Amino acid sequence: MTIINEYRNYINELVEQFNFGMVLENIDNFFEWRRKFYEDLCEAGYQVCSGFCRAVIFHEDWDYVLKFTYNQDQMYDRDGKCLGGMDYCANEAFVYEEAVKAGLADYFAECIYLGQIGDINFYLMTRCDCDEDRVYSGSCDAAFKSFCEFNGYDHTNASDEIYEEFHDQYCEDDDNIFDFAREQWGSIADRVKSFCSEMGVNDIHCGNWGFLGEQLIIIDYAGYGYGARMIAKNRGIAIDACY
Ligand SMILES: Nc1ncnc2c1ncn2[C@@H]1O[C@H](COP(=O)(O)OP(=O)(O)OP(=O)(O)O)[C@@H](O)[C@H]1O
Ligand SMILES: [Mg+2]
Repeated sequence: MTIINEYRNYINELVEQFNFGMVLENIDNFFEWRRKFYEDLCEAGYQVCSGFCRAVIFHEDWDYVLKFTYNQDQMYDRDGKCLGGMDYCANEAFVYEEAVKAGLADYFAECIYLGQIGDINFYLMTRCDCDEDRVYSGSCDAAFKSFCEFNGYDHTNASDEIYEEFHDQYCEDDDNIFDFAREQWGSIADRVKSFCSEMGVNDIHCGNWGFLGEQLIIIDYAGYGYGARMIAKNRGIAIDACY
């Protein structure tokens, strides 16, 4: 059985066991569905996560997660004409194909289109460990080392004032996740970083990374806002605004 058919079957199981049909019929029912079935889903080994625009559903036995956009920003052309919704998952699948072409696929969790079922375009993404603490603490340690190097401090013996200065100025900066990536990946991290900015993948905070085994990997590379506009441009869609 192909992966696509396997995960179509899993969606059918969700329909049969947890009335997921109410979401397939109308994506606006997603939060109501989650509220209603949250405990039953957890008990059965599922997790349902959501970010600003996307929902993610997976089972503890699955190798992939199901991902879909429930909150589409509208795209407009220069004359203010609405060109339709921006499916951020479609962006992700597009960026993944570009990453494959650029030889950088190992740094992005694989994302493929599963198909449209009912109201929803589903995507599959390799399931990663997205424990924010694991990514955040690694990222903070790496950023701290690089902060100390930059300022001429000894990171093995830093005072409370130095930690404070670091937390005030540096710790929350999205870009610092690449200090951690550089530690993990070596110098290719800089190629990945410039590939991201070329593609408009600008939303690269700690919550958008995970681990595949021991490998640090980007799990949310859909871009956002300006990023979405860049991606649309790369895909040949002439949008002027997206909100
Ligand atoms: N490949 C994955 N494996 C495991 N969990 C995932 C995966 N992709 C996403 N998740 C979980 O789902 C959450 C939402 O996914 P994602 O970050 O892609 O959505 P988003 O709406 O674009 O988020 P944001 O709020 O950053 O814009 C993640 O924070 C993570 O907890
Ligand atoms: Mg995210």
